[in-house]
Parts: sequence; structure tokens; C-alpha cells
Amino acid sequence: MSLKSKVLEILERQRGRYLSGEELAHSLGMSRNAVWKAVEALRRDGHDIDSAPRRGYCLRAASDVLTAEGIAARLPEEMRSLKIFARGSVDSTNNEAKRLLASGEIDGAGLVVADEQTAGRGRQGRSFFSPANTGLYMSLVVRTDASFADAVSLTTMASVAVACAVESLTPLRPQIKWVNDVYVGDRKVCGILTEAVGDFESNTVTNVIIGIGVNISTENFPEELKTRAASLDVELTRSALAAEITARLIRFSQDLTDRGYIEEYRRRSLVIGREITYTVSGETRSARAVGIDESGGLEVLLPNGEHETLRSGEITVRLAPQTAGDGHDREV
Ligand code: BTN
Repeated sequence: MSLKSKVLEILERQRGRYLSGEELAHSLGMSRNAVWKAVEALRRDGHDIDSAPRRGYCLRAASDVLTAEGIAARLPEEMRSLKIFARGSVDSTNNEAKRLLASGEIDGAGLVVADEQTAGRGRQGRSFFSPANTGLYMSLVVRTDASFADAVSLTTMASVAVACAVESLTPLRPQIKWVNDVYVGDRKVCGILTEAVGDFESNTVTNVIIGIGVNISTENFPEELKTRAASLDVELTRSALAAEITARLIRFSQDLTDRGYIEEYRRRSLVIGREITYTVSGETRSARAVGIDESGGLEVLLPNGEHETLRSGEITVRLAPQTAGDGHDREV
């Protein structure tokens, strides 16, 4: 770890607090001059570090520069060796992750984050609105020799990781709309696009790219999203959120057979107990969502008393006025 990263790590951990140059120099075993140089280099990278006579240096609470060092500093010790690539503008962090896998720069696990995506991708060929510096756009690559079905469960895990991460850092309590959209109230705040990278010869999955987009302070959504999407709209830095999501997701992914996360997924369901509609082979059906099975499938009860389990696809949920927040039923 470079001196610059070490200084940032300490400032990150004590964000909002002043640390004297002497304190920093002493705990890092370096000279005060070296600390000063590291702080200057961090400032050039854009970190908002204040300095005051006799008080020292302080990373301002609102400083939100997305760097590999800033994220690594907030990861648990055992995950600090994760390869992290912080980009300014990319087409899509999932695409960038694929390029890094192809070039060998990511060979096992890795994380790609970007300030902005010019061609952010959503599910079912949709685009993902990704303006600069207002959202977290990240792709976590995990290596796995899992079956395709196990790899799919990473998407479910990702939605739980995002919801829990947001809750641990903010006063919000996010819920999950099946399959993997994260909601606050009746608005979507995060979308997840998981892509498998495989070996055609052996027909196995070698890596999974979990792409996560969180609207943190995004404004001016395009017309078609205005009534459905929202931002978290709380004070939260992208590095802190990226690290919190990454740590949770890496832990989940280390044992794909452990289904413990499913309990949390059920607790956070925006869907269970509600009337939903969905389309199967061109036919639109209405049903009541009654449960989530051990593989994340949505169990529904049809009006004729039959049960069905949905494994993939999109559903529409009818929300009661108190959830919708405007006194009317609403569909999301
Ligand atoms: C959806 O809601 O349809 C999924 C949206 C996924 C967006 C994220 S942002 C980071 C990663 N890169 C992409 O191009 N897409 C995912």
C-alpha cells in the first residue's frame, strides 16, 4: 500500500475528525513532511481535506471522490487485496469488467466503479440512467465454478447486500421488489444486472459480473422514469456505499450453498402478500404473491386456487395507499 493510500485510509476511518500531522506521522512510521506530501497528492486527486493550525488534517464529511484507495480503506482487512479499478467515464462498468477479464487484468475477483456511464445497461435491453457523480455505478466480478442456477442466486444476494448496506449507512429501510430491484417506499432506487462469463467448451460459468447501479443524489430522471425512480437523497459517499456492498456480497458469494440470505430477502420483500400481475407466454395473469422459496422463486396463488412458482421475469405489484404515500393505489 502506498503512503498516500495509508494516509487516506486513516483519514477515511476518522472522517470529519482532525488528526494532527504528528499523530498521522507517528501511527504510520513516516515523517511529518511525508504526511504533508501525501495529503497534497490526495488533494490533487480531488479529496476535500482541510488543514488547520494546531488541529491537523481532516477529510471533510461530504468529500466524495471515488478512488480505489478510498474504497479499499473501508473494506475489511482481509478484502483489501481486492483489485479495484476506478474510472471516470465508461460506457458501462459491466462492459469494462468484461474487458478487464479478457485482458487478464482481472483474473479472479475484481471491482470496477465509475463516476459516469455513457451507455449504462439495464435488464431486458433497457438502458440505465447514469449521470456523472450522482450515483454509484459498480460491477463486482467474482470467480466461481458454480452451476448456472447457483450463479443466479448471486443476483438475489446482491439485492440483499445493497438493501442491508444502505440501511447500515442511512436511516432508510429499503425493500426488494422481486426479482432484484431495490425500493425505498414506492420508488426504485437501485437496479442490478448480473452477467455470467462462461467457458463454452465445458459449458460452465467461470466468472459472474454483478452490475449494481444506485441513485444516490440523481435528479432530472428521463420522463419515463420520473414517477418510478428516485434517489436515496441522504448524505452518503459513494466509496462508503461501494465498500459496504462489496464486503457483504463477497461474504455471501463465498458460500453459494448457504441460503441464509434468503431469510433477509423474504423480510425485505415488497411483494409478499400483495396482488401482482405478470405475463407467461403472452398471457397476462393476476395472482397473490404468497412466498419466496429456497431458490428465490416467487410463489403465487392464482384465483382458481392453483399455485405457481415464478423463476424469472418481471411482475407488477399493486401497492396500498399507505405504501404508495399519496392516498391512492399504485402499481410498481
Ligand atoms: C435494471 O434495473 O434493469 C438493472 C440496472 C443495472 C445498472 C448497473 S449500473 C452498473 C452496471 N453497469 C451497467 O451497465 N449496468 C449495471
